[in-house]
Amino acid sequence: MTESRRLVELTDDVALLRTAGSSYAIAFGDELNPVRHLHWGGQISLDDARVLRDRDPELRRRSGAVSQPRPADEEYPVWGGLRREPVALKVTLPDGVRGIVPTFVSAEQVGDDGLVVTWADAHQPLRVCLHYRVDEAADAISRWATIHNDGDAPVRIEQAFSASWPIPVRHDVQLTTLVGRYAAECQEQRLPVRQGVTSVGSVHGIPGHDAMPWVALDAGATLTAGEVWSVSLAGSGSWRIDVALAHDGRLHVLGGVQPVDLGHDLGPGAALDLPVMTGAYEGFAGHDGISRRWHDYARRHVVVQPERLRPVHYNSWFARYYDQGIADQRELVPLAAEPGVELFVIDDGWFKGRLTDTAGLGDWTADPVKFPNGLGELADLVHAHGMQFGVWIEPEMANPDSDLLRAHPDWALEWPSREPTLVRHQRMLDFCRSDVRQWAVDAIADLVTEHRVDALKWDMNRPLTEALSAAAPEGEIWLAQVRGVWAVWDELRRRFPDLWLESCASGTGRADHGALSRAHWALGSDNTDPLERLAIQAGFARMNPAETIACWATDAPPSGLSTRAYPSLDFRFHVAMTGVLGKEFSPPGWRSPGRGSPDARTDPPRRSSRRRR
Ligand code: GLA
Repeated sequence: MTESRRLVELTDDVALLRTAGSSYAIAFGDELNPVRHLHWGGQISLDDARVLRDRDPELRRRSGAVSQPRPADEEYPVWGGLRREPVALKVTLPDGVRGIVPTFVSAEQVGDDGLVVTWADAHQPLRVCLHYRVDEAADAISRWATIHNDGDAPVRIEQAFSASWPIPVRHDVQLTTLVGRYAAECQEQRLPVRQGVTSVGSVHGIPGHDAMPWVALDAGATLTAGEVWSVSLAGSGSWRIDVALAHDGRLHVLGGVQPVDLGHDLGPGAALDLPVMTGAYEGFAGHDGISRRWHDYARRHVVVQPERLRPVHYNSWFARYYDQGIADQRELVPLAAEPGVELFVIDDGWFKGRLTDTAGLGDWTADPVKFPNGLGELADLVHAHGMQFGVWIEPEMANPDSDLLRAHPDWALEWPSREPTLVRHQRMLDFCRSDVRQWAVDAIADLVTEHRVDALKWDMNRPLTEALSAAAPEGEIWLAQVRGVWAVWDELRRRFPDLWLESCASGTGRADHGALSRAHWALGSDNTDPLERLAIQAGFARMNPAETIACWATDAPPSGLSTRAYPSLDFRFHVAMTGVLGKEFSPPGWRSPGRGSPDARTDPPRRSSRRRR
């Protein structure tokens, strides 16, 4: 490899990370700021980085009078000293001191594309490793931090972000976020960055609907031209991204796990690995350009089995709601097979006791009344029609009215002496516990094996509350619960490498780069109105490629939440076909649009009296 193509150039005091169209530079050993940010943007050389390292030392020293050092120059700003802007790390050290004094320890290259920079507190055995991985073609740098307690007493973690990203000073910076709510996810929002801190995030234990863990910044870029900086967090739990503009125009974006309620002790000798946060840079081609970078990046580092063509699927939710018995499915299966559906998914309502949303979650065997001959009868029918068989599950949850919670009341999260919060009549199971995770793996593995299940729609329909687990100290539960779900997903994918996994959290509530590195796609939304879907899908496409979002074409008027408009069948399909195509038509209506003119309207779908919301 020639020098000019090296991805990581490391000298005693400077590191330069290179992608095809960008550079990222840091310097080490400065007395005020042992790991100093020099540059993130267009391509520079090692000599350029040295010039940046040496510029205006006096000015930097003087600026220390108001904030020392400036977080926008710090690679990983920490609490302590004269800092007054948002920081990435705040801890209480064993001697009660809450300020950190970082001193440079080492910088080491890892393989061709990685770097680890280590610093330690000057007085206490706290060590922080800053990790970097370069994606050359996508112009992306992935970063995360690991916090090590090298002492023999606990260190209290109060805030620990994955990374801080200084953005070069520009005037009139615009922030793009993807905000929303249930059934209106991923709405692109642009706002001017003003002095102070603008935050997006979630405290729900999942990324949630309020915002996607992603932002983009530009100073006058259009859709097709201009420079854009963008970051994405792959945490899958509660999160926060802060955009901080200081009085002198310095700007930094930092993010990671939501600090609210995170406080917990990191034991002697323990290490805390924080979620990966990736930054992508587009030098010329504006917002569409940065989206292409994200798609490139996702296809290399996120998307599961990107080479596998996603199946056209049918989902039975809006056709039947909770009436998901064998008689209903016998009607739906041949109708789904006829127009070429490849995967038939039976949604919520098939399992024991599930007549409404008040009971059954947790008992992952077929309801004996709805399926007197078991679920295998439906699996056979679906397979006989040449389709793969998929099943809806929500294993992180249980209704109090379930055999599972009757047998294991202690498996649901709760605070002693308080009434548990019920959302949709359900409680959250403690996935920090290994016995609960083992139960989930076994129950789902049995279901998959016994009924030759080819796909799981894994849903998650309530936020994490009563965050207390004997298996995770205090606030660590916010991290451990996510790790628990990931461990179950990983184990199921290890046991069943061909099993499709869809991540649903009432739509795209869990569709960050962490979840999408384990699930093949996310459900785009319960809103299937094609006009509204255009906005949802366009927002989602800012950070994720088309093969990671399931898009349903439904009856007209659409079955989900909608404007109740009557767009043509062609239009409904054109919109749905920009993602992983799914169908949600319900008889008798779907026969007429399936065969009629593009403008054919269908009868309203049959509605169950037991609606979900
Ligand atoms: C969530 C999902 C829906 C459906 C229902 C079933 O709301 O987003 O698609 O699966 O649960 O209860």
